[in-house]
Amino acid sequence: MSDLDIIMQHWNAFEIRKYLGTPLPMSKNAEREWLESATKHSPWKDGKIVLAIEDKKTGEFLGTISLFDISPQMRRAEFGIAIHQPSNHNKGYGTDATGVTLWIGFHVLGLNSIYLYALDRNKRAIRAYEKAGFKHVGVFRNAIYVEGQFQGLVAMDILSEEFAEQFPPGTLTGGP
Ligand SMILES: CC(C)(COP(=O)(O)OP(=O)(O)OC[C@H]1O[C@@H](n2cnc3c(N)ncnc32)[C@H](O)[C@@H]1OP(=O)(O)O)[C@@H](O)C(=O)NCCC(=O)NCCS
Repeated sequence: MSDLDIIMQHWNAFEIRKYLGTPLPMSKNAEREWLESATKHSPWKDGKIVLAIEDKKTGEFLGTISLFDISPQMRRAEFGIAIHQPSNHNKGYGTDATGVTLWIGFHVLGLNSIYLYALDRNKRAIRAYEKAGFKHVGVFRNAIYVEGQFQGLVAMDILSEEFAEQFPPGTLTGGP
């Protein structure tokens, strides 16, 4: 909850929200309520886990990362991430945090498949996901209306066995 003010500052900017499929800003009340519930989510009971991304050295709050729609039956979950402040983009935080979350998903939660959707014009996100090991599945054409036009939605996924080729059980991921 101590991150609420900094979340409101950057999270509501259209520069970030235009990539999320939820372009309208959130009120502070709604964000407080979401944060309150996000800190209590259980992957099995609620089907989601939301974590803060921090700079390990300074403790600066950078954004949030999550696995949601976790299906214990299919051992599958959707992935989402946002580094909030544009000046923190392109510094490797997204790729690093994605790798750590995949590690949690596969080596702690025992998932078999993790998937995501990204706007096809969000080249930075797609590149970060490729670096973390996600593969392209396909594109839903004209699926999202934002910035006055329909845009394609890229689907990507990674399987447990593919992640294990890079990070077998017993190894760790995550930058210094
Ligand atoms: C998407 C996001 C999580 C990526 O995290 P990040 O820390 O900025 O990304 P990284 O620095 O780890 O990697 C970015 C990569 O994309 C590349 N890149 C940046 N802009 C690019 C562009 N326009 N075209 C192609 N590649 C691009 C970078 O060069 C880098 O690749 P490299 O290491 O091979 O040079 C982050 O930028 C973000 O949260 N953006 C706003 C919200 C958002 O888009 N969320 C995802 C919704 S699906």
